Order: sequence, then structure tokens, then C-alpha cells
Amino acid sequence: MEHMEPRPIPTTMTTMFEYDYATNEADLRRLYENAKRDQWNASKDIPWKEPGTADGRVIADELIDIYGSPLWERLSEAQRVELNRRIAAWRLSTLMYGEQGAMLACSQLVDVVEGADHKFFQATQVMDEARHNEVLDRYLTERLGIRYGMPKNERDLFDSILTESRWYLKTIALQLVAETFAVALFKMMGESARDPVLGEVCKRVLQDESRHMGFGMLSLPRVVAEASETERRELEDYTCFALEKTLTGFFPAEAYQDLGFSPAEMDEIRRYRRETAASNDFAPFRKYFRKDMHSSMVQNLARIGLLSDRVRPRLERLGITLPAR
Ligand SMILES: [Fe+2]
Ligand SMILES: [Fe+2]
Repeated sequence: MEHMEPRPIPTTMTTMFEYDYATNEADLRRLYENAKRDQWNASKDIPWKEPGTADGRVIADELIDIYGSPLWERLSEAQRVELNRRIAAWRLSTLMYGEQGAMLACSQLVDVVEGADHKFFQATQVMDEARHNEVLDRYLTERLGIRYGMPKNERDLFDSILTESRWYLKTIALQLVAETFAVALFKMMGESARDPVLGEVCKRVLQDESRHMGFGMLSLPRVVAEASETERRELEDYTCFALEKTLTGFFPAEAYQDLGFSPAEMDEIRRYRRETAASNDFAPFRKYFRKDMHSSMVQNLARIGLLSDRVRPRLERLGITLPAR
């Protein structure tokens, strides 16, 4: 596994020192209470000793883009298992960097937000994301022994989130867009996991995610409602930027390359991916993932008040089907 040096990201933000600790927003305070109650411990609550599958598969083969294609048919059983493990490692690595980014962003949010309810809740999310980072790192290290680098679009997204000084833009990109995507991905991987330990890891992470998205759902509608026309456009543009970075550029090319696919075969993989996307002929799990992720994204944007006429066509360009009005 390659070792990567920490990457410095210079930031300027204003820390708000709070003097009033009374409950002002009961719903947010309840999320904070739930977070304290529902902490789990990656060292104790995951059955790390449980054996994996006899054939070495981690996820269902159906989650692999080329599953069922002529390329897939040409692979030996050993190569299929190897690809299965590498694709799982690629996706989990991506999620793991997302957890690191989320932890850092929430630690900034503790400083930047106003009000004890907001600060206390963010402090719990810092701890949640640390545990997620820890549990995915341990899974990759102990169960797979493979990890991949951080994809460029994900790095761009987090660089932007971490250098943005306004809390509500961080929250839009993190607790609304990135976490809606991550939840759908964890659900798909958890439900289709072949390795029982992966199933347990995903289940545990998902328990915390509803609180994180809850923060966005509770805190953002007011910001959107009170925004001026100019501010509103900025909120919409930032939402679309986060969506574009989150939904594109997540192709596990390195995992395929490590299996020795030639450049011509890589083109074939990309073509097959595009064609199945266009014909909407996905394997059931991936089809469900897209539907699940797209519909929760649309629902959440609508609830916050961001599904405007400017945003709708940009969502459609990303392949998201919108409900008729
Ligand atoms: Fe997380
Ligand atoms: Fe989260």
C-alpha cells in the first residue's frame, strides 16, 4: 500500500465563541442527544474475527460495471474474485477519504456555526466521522490489504468545502449532497455484501448518517428561504457544483488497470458502462442504487427549497430524472 503525505490546505475562517448554551432549537438538540446515545465502537462492535466468504468475494459481482459483458465472460474465476476485491477496495477507499473530509469539515463547522445547539451537534459529527474513517481504514487494511488513492473530483470537492468559510455552503456540499450519495452507496454495498463484516460495517455507518443529513434538513431551509436573489443563485450554483463533483468521475479505472486490462480493453469497459447507462439496462443493484440515490437527492433538494427552475435542468443533465410538476 502506498503511503501518502498529509496535504496542507490553508484556510481562513471566523470562529464564533458562544456564551449562551441554552436550547434554542429543540430538534437539533434532540439530534445531539441521539448522537450521544447511539455511539458505537469500531473496535468492539464489529465482528472482525468472522471469516469472509470461501471464494474471497467481498461484494456481489452484480456491482461490477462489466458484470455480464463479453469482457467479464473472458475472465477466469480467479480474475473475477480479484476484480471483485479491487472494485470493493476502490469504492471503500473513496468513501474512507470522504470520512476524513467530513471529519475535517465538521471540525470547522464547530467553530464557524453560531448557537450551542449547532456547535454541540457538529462536535458529535466530528466523532462520528472519525469512527467511520477508522472503521473503513481497518476494513481495508485487515480484510482486503488493498487501497486506492483519492479521486480527483472528490479532492476538488473537499478542497472547496474545506476552504469555503460560510457554514451553509459547507453544509450543502457535505451534509446534503455528499452524504446523500454516500448513504445510497453504503446501502447498496451493505445490502449486497458477501463478506458479513462489510455488511456490519455499512449497517453501523448508516445508523449515524441519518443524523448528519438531519442537520442539513433542519438548518438549511431557513437559509434558503431568507436568501436574497443573488445569494439564492450562489446557493444553487454551489449545490450544482457539489452534485457535479459527486456524481461524475467515480470510475474505478485503477482497479481495472491493476488486473492488467489493456488500453483497448479499458475503452471497451468505458463504452460498456456508457451503453448500459444509456439503455438503463443496469444489473438490479446498480439500477436500484441510481434510483434510490437520485430520488433521495431530488427529495432532499426539494425539502430545502433548492429544486428551482435554474437547478432542474442541471440535474437532468446529470442523468437525474425529475418528477413532473
Ligand atoms: Fe461518515
Ligand atoms: Fe456522515
